[in-house]
Amino acid sequence: MRMMFSAIALVLSSPALAQQAPPVDGAPATITVHGDKPAPKFDKRIFGQFAEHLGTGIYGGIWVGKGSRIPNINGYRTDVLDALKAIRTPVIRWPGGCFADEYHWREGIGAPAKREVKINTNWGGVTEDNAVGTHEFMNYSEMVGAEPYVSGNVGNGAPSEMAEWVEYMTSPTGSTLAKERASNGRKAPWKLPMFGIGNELWGCGGNMRPEYAADVTRRYSTFVKMPEGQRVMKIASGANADDYNWTDVMMRDAGAQFDGIGVHYYTIPYDWAKKGAATGFDEDQWARTLAKTVKMDDYITEHAKRMDKYDPGKRVALLVDEWGTWYDQEPGSHPGFLYQQNSLRDALVTSLNFDIFARHTDRLRGANIAQMVNVLQAMMLTDGNRMVRTPTYWVFDLYKDYQDGVVLPVDVQSRWYNKNQWTLKAVSASAVRGVDGAVHMGLTNVDPNQPATVSVKLDGVTGAGITGRILTASAIDAHNTFDAPDVVKPAAFNGATLANGTLTVTLPAKSVVMLDIR
Ligand code: AHR
Repeated sequence: MRMMFSAIALVLSSPALAQQAPPVDGAPATITVHGDKPAPKFDKRIFGQFAEHLGTGIYGGIWVGKGSRIPNINGYRTDVLDALKAIRTPVIRWPGGCFADEYHWREGIGAPAKREVKINTNWGGVTEDNAVGTHEFMNYSEMVGAEPYVSGNVGNGAPSEMAEWVEYMTSPTGSTLAKERASNGRKAPWKLPMFGIGNELWGCGGNMRPEYAADVTRRYSTFVKMPEGQRVMKIASGANADDYNWTDVMMRDAGAQFDGIGVHYYTIPYDWAKKGAATGFDEDQWARTLAKTVKMDDYITEHAKRMDKYDPGKRVALLVDEWGTWYDQEPGSHPGFLYQQNSLRDALVTSLNFDIFARHTDRLRGANIAQMVNVLQAMMLTDGNRMVRTPTYWVFDLYKDYQDGVVLPVDVQSRWYNKNQWTLKAVSASAVRGVDGAVHMGLTNVDPNQPATVSVKLDGVTGAGITGRILTASAIDAHNTFDAPDVVKPAAFNGATLANGTLTVTLPAKSVVMLDIR
């Protein structure tokens, strides 16, 4: 008994541990922003989108066709286009996903009426008429102002097919492929800054072992060639969640042949057989979803460690090129279409991930939420001529000034939020000095029942004025519908005061706040 007592006393008297002890219930969280120790920039590519030929992600979601009664510009629906521009969408990944590793680009060029009609074998067995192909996607990226991240077919395509696709997109006028592109309506080559060497080669992309995938990646990557003087970032197919061996082997055996490697991690409240509903859930499901979201931090840390072994100079980027929530599809919707509602919970999944991404910008230089419209954790949902922005969209809007800003590391001391066995820090945060010169600080209170008072020490940050916006709602599963599109929408936030270099903020329960310090 005496021995136990002295062991406890020793632990409590250790200065390091005493410092790390989280504030108890009711005590304010404390945050230090290290404006004096800037970290690598928050690459705008971390705000990337993902648009796969899946469900109504493309058809109905972005493309309605030129003759549609839905307002459109050259076949692209105007409402979605405008909404993507408003959040400064920097990257769109296309055409998949699993779809990419069975995609034959020649089937999607030329006169639309003559394009091949295929079965989408991955997603619902529906027909794919290839109305959206290379021209439609590349032109759309330009209209949005986004960089195209095109994923090649390693699964059942040949290296020559991949090489010719790249040449078709990028070759200056003169070659036969460039002339063919021109005859199909596009004389000038497109810019192709990012190219994926397959997708999920461990699964729908060919069920490969990492050793085999590494060899295949070396081979296919060799033939992805750009015109003289241009570079493309070649991105290798990355691991599933915590499959660190995949990253290790790919880096060891093929790392010299690519510039980036992906990792895919989906937040699934339960498991693949029964994932959980997008709305109508209880607090246990709220807590388990958010607790599973913050596993992303460990996954990135561990993958980055494997990369450090072979690439200590951090030449190769890590990209979380698929992330987001995956719930059971909405009742009555096609099971292969992955259509799900999106609630305040998804908003917090997004802000927690942005905070995590900010901690890893030394290695993490891209991410693509799955997916852009009507699929999984979407920015927007459409129904005929109606479109609604989701809570996730609004977090992308709140955080958009992080794009290419310098990350200011933050230390967060917060009490824990617990529900059943699910535990995570009640307060999460990140900060960036934006390209506009202002400091932008995102704060999240995951506790759905209690507000959180936060005291923020600003080291190396000066500012006289502070403005803020908040995203919250009365219910944990609050969401926007076509009939009530503004239930979850940012509002002005007045709960922050700045005095003598310290910010005091009161975060309402279940809220995301973005502060701008100028
Ligand atoms: O985003 C849906 C699917 O999830 C993608 O097609 C695939 O890459 C992943 O398994």
